[in-house]
Amino acid sequence: MSNSSIPSFILVIGTGGTIAGLTTDSGNGGYQAGQVPISTLLTQINTKFPIKNMQLSNIDSCDLSEPHLSKLGAQVRTGLADTEVIGIVITHGTDTMEETATFLEFICGGSARNFGKKVVLTGAMLPSDHREADGPQNLSNAIEFAGKRDGQSGIWAVMGSKPIPGLALVKGHSSHIDAFFEETLSPDWIQVSNDLPIPPDNQWPWVEIITSHSGARPDTIRSLEGLGVQGIVLAGTGAGTVHENLAPALERFMEAGGAVVRASRIGRGYVGGSLANGRLAKALSAGYLNPAKARIALQLALFASTQSSPNPLSWQDYFARMVGLPEFR
Ligand code: SIN
Repeated sequence: MSNSSIPSFILVIGTGGTIAGLTTDSGNGGYQAGQVPISTLLTQINTKFPIKNMQLSNIDSCDLSEPHLSKLGAQVRTGLADTEVIGIVITHGTDTMEETATFLEFICGGSARNFGKKVVLTGAMLPSDHREADGPQNLSNAIEFAGKRDGQSGIWAVMGSKPIPGLALVKGHSSHIDAFFEETLSPDWIQVSNDLPIPPDNQWPWVEIITSHSGARPDTIRSLEGLGVQGIVLAGTGAGTVHENLAPALERFMEAGGAVVRASRIGRGYVGGSLANGRLAKALSAGYLNPAKARIALQLALFASTQSSPNPLSWQDYFARMVGLPEFR
């Protein structure tokens, strides 16, 4: 960071994405994400807020790693605790933005609300040198929203002109400029008040996503168990239903100590309760979290359950609180 004489400022953290992308040819619209530094992107916008910027990475967000998340989480926490920081904006690829939003909600959403600050993710669907680039407007909107003292502290995303609460953020279109929508969360959604610990780089629990589909085979689950996978998120059909060929292998995985969460491959809507056919009775449902978000949540719940504390909770206890399941174990 520079400009230490500025009394209070918005911290803008660059991580990459199409917002920092550059076209690679003139013909078919191809481009490479994560090319332009955040300091350059900031010269393309006007804002009334003093800004400090920081480049944490410059990647295509399809390459987002757990160490990237650990590093970002630590930096955001530092920024939230800094009395000079008014709010934080993170430029990010749109492809995994909802995973990062979920991570931030669970590791520092409580602190953001306690400090009365916003953490705002933004990105773009068109590269920075496109003649209709959406990045500058999105970045400008995100900074204005992060700086506004309107009582809406917490984790957010701004794409276009609409702020979306971080946990409700869903990318619902692969190419449309208006690619994001806001999941309708029920009013009794429980917000976790205590932030969970950030796993150090090499201590993230190994959690995989398995999709249920016609002709599903159990062999993959057996292989994952043999490899030492600790958790599986089922991207189930419909409201989190599971193929008869997968259910017994997942039951065995749970009996051997593995964690299983049922989500839906539809990617939006609620998965709750238990299945009428009795399959996977001991799995937890993912509530409003789609499989990618549920995977991050399960990793954080598994890690939290291994941390020493006077009253340690099980991963199920943590996960149930995170997704607002009606019954806590
Ligand atoms: C990425 O996620 O980094 C590339 C795609 C995008 O930002 O829209």
